Amino acid sequence: MRAFNFTVLVVILLVIFSCKSENLEDYLSNNNQNVCGCIVVTYNEDIKTILDNNCSYCHTNQAVSGCDLDSYQAVIDYLQHEGMQLYDYVKNNDHQGVELDSCSLKKLQKWIYNPVE
Ligand code: HEC
Repeated sequence: MRAFNFTVLVVILLVIFSCKSENLEDYLSNNNQNVCGCIVVTYNEDIKTILDNNCSYCHTNQAVSGCDLDSYQAVIDYLQHEGMQLYDYVKNNDHQGVELDSCSLKKLQKWIYNPVE
């Protein structure tokens, strides 16, 4: 009985840890692949439109303190303080009624790792 419980525990731990395999290196190598037609995601080509249409009308003039999303420099400033939170906040489409399609979310996530203008 003890041995059985131990085996069950090991199996459960293996399952949990095997789900955690995506490290930054894996992510970055995946990240060089085509995301919804974009190999390189840039602020001007992709991100500006997404933010202007879905976020900037609330995130401007410090209406949300420290989180203006209405210019490249403002977004970079936010990223330097909070990083991935910019994506984490909206990834489940449960923030302030905003819904982003899956391509927009993938682009945003990809761009945050390499936020070129
Ligand atoms: C209807 C207005 C509105 C829209 C649209 C909106 N937000 Fe927000 N956002 C808020 C408010 C209000 C807060 C502060 C309260 C909260 O945390 O939910 C906030 C907070 C945030 C924060 C956390 C700020 C901090 O304190 O670090 C992030 C990140 C964020 N929003 C990102 C976004 C992104 C990205 C979009 C567009 C995809 C977006 N928001 C669209 C109103 C909005």
